[in-house]
Amino acid sequence: MSELRDLFNPRSIAVVGASRTPGKIGYEVLRNLIEYGYEGAIYPVNPKANEILGVKCYPSLLAIPGEVDVAIISIPAKFVPEVLEEAGKKGVKHVVIITSGFKEIGNVELENKIVEIAKRYGMRILGPNIFGYVYTPAKINATFGPRDVIPGGIAFITQSGALGIALMGMTILKGMGISAIVSVGNKADIEDADLLEFFEKDDNTKVVLIYMEGVVNGRRFVKVAAKTTLRKPVIVIKSGRTEAGAKAAASHTGALAGNVAIYMTAFQQSGVLVAKTVEEAFDWAKAFSWLPLPKGDRLVVITNGGGAGVQTTDTLAENGILLNPPPESLANEIRKFVPPFASLANPIDMTGMATEDMYYKAVRAAMENPEVDSIIILYCHTVITDPVGVASAIIRASKDAGGVTKPVVVSIIGGREAADAIKMLTQNKIPAYPTPERAASAMAAIYKYIKLREQVKLRLQQLEKL
Ligand code: ACO
Repeated sequence: MSELRDLFNPRSIAVVGASRTPGKIGYEVLRNLIEYGYEGAIYPVNPKANEILGVKCYPSLLAIPGEVDVAIISIPAKFVPEVLEEAGKKGVKHVVIITSGFKEIGNVELENKIVEIAKRYGMRILGPNIFGYVYTPAKINATFGPRDVIPGGIAFITQSGALGIALMGMTILKGMGISAIVSVGNKADIEDADLLEFFEKDDNTKVVLIYMEGVVNGRRFVKVAAKTTLRKPVIVIKSGRTEAGAKAAASHTGALAGNVAIYMTAFQQSGVLVAKTVEEAFDWAKAFSWLPLPKGDRLVVITNGGGAGVQTTDTLAENGILLNPPPESLANEIRKFVPPFASLANPIDMTGMATEDMYYKAVRAAMENPEVDSIIILYCHTVITDPVGVASAIIRASKDAGGVTKPVVVSIIGGREAADAIKMLTQNKIPAYPTPERAASAMAAIYKYIKLREQVKLRLQQLEKL
């Protein structure tokens, strides 16, 4: 059983520093917790209040009648040690310290002090210097970020607070489903490896995404990440990739961003997928969270535009994936309904005359063909066909073919209508992107993960033999 079980599935949560004033962090955290629907006991703690947001308030942790599994702390730094002593005496298991003003500003002594107190009582610390955490299966949103996080399969661990909050908002806008969002800040105690150990076993989590500036214990991270990779993909955005970036990271969370080459070797050894940009990481995470893994490497690209097909072919090739001709059975099927000048190579180019019906038939044929393992569908908006109609044809085809049983990514390229079509596909859990390169990159990440996982498996087997 993971040590963090009670952090993610607590029976009760106290908010120390729950404020009476809307807009203050302690107020907003309490409001999110209540309004997101947490069903365990909620205990606001504030000596100056009797009740906040309709919930009875307690003057201290020790005054709470029931047990407290998690205490969220949002009071100024200098008062935190005293509250931790109380939390320890109360038998609190996890303290989530939102407060800033520790190691990140050179206040190492105060950070060491809180770690010492927590250790003495056997409590685990998340933070300090964080925006809180979310765990959708338990309906916990204990953050001062956006409230309506969409439940789903992505666990997002972030060392940056503000960026993390902003990305929380982006997941909502992009319709991405989240299992957890964990702000780790200074990582005084709980670090990435602890969280990976939890998410590896967590059936609600399909993929783990980490925004990382530095890691506390590199060896442990490699070991735990390798184990996690065997069960689900781990994507890392490693910031501080340059000397200048590393310096910025040091003054941000006090992280030692370290030698870039060492990090990259460690990621390679542990089978972690490294994303350069936030956009790339989120594109990949979306695909992993919704799609099954392919059974083989027979990838087919279906398009109505040659250029989009070429861009896709290039992106795939840059990622070591070369397209082979499509199976003859599929080419013969598609030949029946496309114009005679269509290309039945790979990409299959149905030409600018492609209709919704052609998309429906081609996508369904590819989905049902046992010689096809994965599909990239591209659509360039022409006046012949409405993008939303194409999106709807893709959704119908996948339903009629018995659901998404092989990975499918889509790119709808165009203006406002293309954006509407992407939204529709997203709502139906089919990853869709506005450019062919992004769709191809997401598919390439899936194949890369399979390769990395094989390498990790082999390495672990060899280690066992030693
Ligand atoms: N026990 C319980 N309640 C207490 C205690 C205590 N020991 N001491 C104070 N309180 C109450 C206060 O009375 C107040 O309630 P009120 O507003 O109803 O009067 C409430 O707790 C908060 O205390 P304040 O002194 O008003 O503190 P404030 O809210 O101004 O600041 C905070 C506290 C938010 C923790 C601040 O010190 C801090 O660290 N801010 C930065 C947080 C942050 O940015 N974290 C990183 C996030 S990531 C990112 O970058 C976005």
